Amino acid sequence: MIFIGSNPISRIKLKYLICIVSFMLVSYKPMTEEHLGTVISFMKKYGKQGTGFWYNETRDSPERMRGFLEKNNELSFVAIDDARTTPSHNEVIGMILGSCDGGRTGYLQRLFVHSSYRNYGVGTGITKHAVERLISLGCKHISADLPINNEPAKKILEKLGGEKVEGFAIFDIKK
Ligand SMILES: CC(C)(COP(=O)(O)OP(=O)(O)OC[C@H]1O[C@@H](n2cnc3c(N)ncnc32)[C@H](O)[C@@H]1OP(=O)(O)O)[C@@H](O)C(=O)NCCC(=O)NCCS
Repeated sequence: MIFIGSNPISRIKLKYLICIVSFMLVSYKPMTEEHLGTVISFMKKYGKQGTGFWYNETRDSPERMRGFLEKNNELSFVAIDDARTTPSHNEVIGMILGSCDGGRTGYLQRLFVHSSYRNYGVGTGITKHAVERLISLGCKHISADLPINNEPAKKILEKLGGEKVEGFAIFDIKK
């Protein structure tokens, strides 16, 4: 039985308990075609101003996403809430796209965690999986672009050894 009292210590204990239980029930898997429905809905939902990513119907269509996954085999990951997963349905709660230019430089993009699951380590867990996979392929350098004020994403990349590159600007050519 969990007693939720007004005592601040009880509240702190409850927060740790929730973190531990959440951690145990989340698994990380390479993204496959079966996850694309939820992954595309995440990109539509979270690809708004402030995330450094904008959703594009053509570029992010199921066909193009399938092509991306085929070219970058097992470099993109999803986080799954195992407690809500059934044999016919995977409850995807987070995603990251990884790619690699022939084993030299790795790229990370579209890190999104469902808003109800944030601050429980899911973003860190899924990014770590993608980074480890890219390193195992021989990537010596892994790059990720993010808005300068995106504190949670910055924290995750710093925790995994990332350093901000000074003196660079990002240029986009949009079609
Ligand atoms: C960025 C995002 C993926 C992080 O996912 P998450 O599961 O909450 O991440 P984690 O819990 O692993 O880690 C977040 C870290 O940021 C910290 N954090 C959260 N809000 C913060 C803030 N406003 N300022 C500083 N740090 C903050 C957390 O304390 C945590 O650090 P800790 O593990 O040392 O305690 C999630 O917030 C998200 O989907 N945001 C919208 C999409 C987005 O911005 N994506 C990144 C585009 S590049």
